[in-house]
Amino acid sequence: MVKDHLPEILVDHAHLERKAATTAMNLEKYRDLFPRVEELNAIAIEELQHFQLVLNLLKERGIPFGQPHPSPWITALMRSVRNGSRHQVIDHLICCALIEGRSCEKFQILARELESIDPALAKFYASLVESEGNHYATYLLMAREIDPVETASRLDFYLDLDAELIVKPNPVPMLH
Ligand SMILES: [Fe+2]
Ligand SMILES: [Fe+2]
Repeated sequence: MVKDHLPEILVDHAHLERKAATTAMNLEKYRDLFPRVEELNAIAIEELQHFQLVLNLLKERGIPFGQPHPSPWITALMRSVRNGSRHQVIDHLICCALIEGRSCEKFQILARELESIDPALAKFYASLVESEGNHYATYLLMAREIDPVETASRLDFYLDLDAELIVKPNPVPMLH
């Protein structure tokens, strides 16, 4: 039940936003993304703002900022990023898109689940949905602009991998 694990979920969420900010900046190392550096910076800034909003919530609720739990799902996605500049940037962008897409879905679910239990938090999650959805779309478009054929084939690969991973149980209350 979500409400029994709110402190862990919020701490996990804070780390998720922190990682989303650093990830957007990590993408700036790829030559193919040099022309998108300002867009990536804008995403990093937005994620950093989300991180601060979650930190504010933690403070308001007297929840200490703590250790992140590694996500087996994200680890498995990132492990299959291939080396080599073109392959790597496409795979990395697709993984980022899937992670953002998953955040978008999870925030929608949380907004719905929390509506009757914690309306303020429900509203907060609902307010993030659009932004994470935009990040999903932006990363996917960036990959398609670099190489649409390769992106389509790797997206198929990653969706299959996601379908395999999603059935593995994760006992830790976390967002991904
Ligand atoms: Fe975010
Ligand atoms: Fe995001």
